[in-house]
Amino acid sequence: MSDPKLDGLVIPKHVGIIMDGNGRWAKKRALPRSVGHRFGAQNFRKITRYISNVGVEVLTLYAFSTENWKRPKEEVGALMKLFHQYLKDSLKDFRDDDIKVVFIGDKSAFDPQLVKLIQETEEVAKDRKGMQLNIAMNYGSRAEIVRAVKSICKDVAENNKDIDSITEADISDRLYTGGLPDPDLIIRTGGEFRLSNFLLYQSAYSEFYSTDVLWPDFNDLEFNKAVIEYNRRNRRFGGV
Ligand code: FPP
Repeated sequence: MSDPKLDGLVIPKHVGIIMDGNGRWAKKRALPRSVGHRFGAQNFRKITRYISNVGVEVLTLYAFSTENWKRPKEEVGALMKLFHQYLKDSLKDFRDDDIKVVFIGDKSAFDPQLVKLIQETEEVAKDRKGMQLNIAMNYGSRAEIVRAVKSICKDVAENNKDIDSITEADISDRLYTGGLPDPDLIIRTGGEFRLSNFLLYQSAYSEFYSTDVLWPDFNDLEFNKAVIEYNRRNRRFGGV
């Protein structure tokens, strides 16, 4: 069920989104930042379904970074509450769309109830055949690369391997996204032009799209604009 507005366009296989601007969205309305996150979370659910319907195969959403713990305690608490609530709701919601939900990042830092919810969500979704939704939570790309390097070192030491046999694939296979295609398109809402420790290794040849639209306002039309722009890009992957 694709959107006719995207007819004839190449749909990126893997899309990453940095969902930025919830705080500013709330500030513009003289509301607490937590309300911005609530609207952001509602949007997360809506846009995920839309993106799955247009035929994207993998969607990776940056929900909480390893650096986000530095935010005020109340804000972190409000975000954790939202994660609980939305994971409960989305268990059903995403089943209808056959979306396979996977969490990437270090889950061990979350409270045991949330960890349980994460495991349940992954378990019920594991055999689904639709779009794979990676939710990056307590995710940081540098930590992800260190984790991959440690795993390679262990393999080399335990199996007496030749260091010169290590390949790029050895690293990418050990990232949380191992086995998935690299992101074709990375969208950042909220107007900034940086990756903020998101998919650093995987994004070597990703097309980057930044929009001033704040995350709670990012809708299907805005997503279509990103796909149209993506289709204007000339991807050369280092060639001519
Ligand atoms: C960035 O906006 C947003 C976040 C740090 C949180 C993103 C989380 C959601 C949208 C909730 C949805 C996720 C799930 C899994 C339910 P910001 O606070 O940095 O905004 P600002 O730059 O305007 O301050």
